Amino acid sequence: MTPERETNQDRQPRLLALHGPNLNLLGQREPHIYGTLTLAGIDIMLQREAADLGIELRIVQSNHEGVLIDRIHGAGEWASGILINAGAYTHTSYALRDAIAAVGLPTVEVHLSNIYAREEFRRHSVIAPVCKGQISGFGPMSYLLGLRALLYIIRPEG
Ligand code: DQA
Repeated sequence: MTPERETNQDRQPRLLALHGPNLNLLGQREPHIYGTLTLAGIDIMLQREAADLGIELRIVQSNHEGVLIDRIHGAGEWASGILINAGAYTHTSYALRDAIAAVGLPTVEVHLSNIYAREEFRRHSVIAPVCKGQISGFGPMSYLLGLRALLYIIRPEG
């Protein structure tokens, strides 16, 4: 008998969830837009969903563009996909966009608010063209939908 070889398909998917600037203030930050759930609350929801889906999930929040970029580069070493709410960097950061493109991991962009129903400057995402897709406007549910979407991209067969 030939020994079973472990393949990428067999391995438990490992994903990185990135929260960008000001998301550490969720719960107190403009609750009429972002709701009252804290980031810790969102992370608990995400980890529960990940456990149910058999995903190993690492979660990082940073207010610093360079730290987010370093984490994206690092994910190239261990992760099979990235879930990202880049906060306001969504609209401004060519450097984040380049990092996502450089690493080449399937990436799903999420937003709590509907960025298309807000100020003009929020209606454009510079990272969207290098992401597989975007989920925007469903509050904390955007993250859970994004996680499932990412898993579907990585393992379309379920
Ligand atoms: C956000 C939308 C961005 O425009 C804003 O800068 C954020 C949060 C969202 O989740 O709705 O920080 O990404």
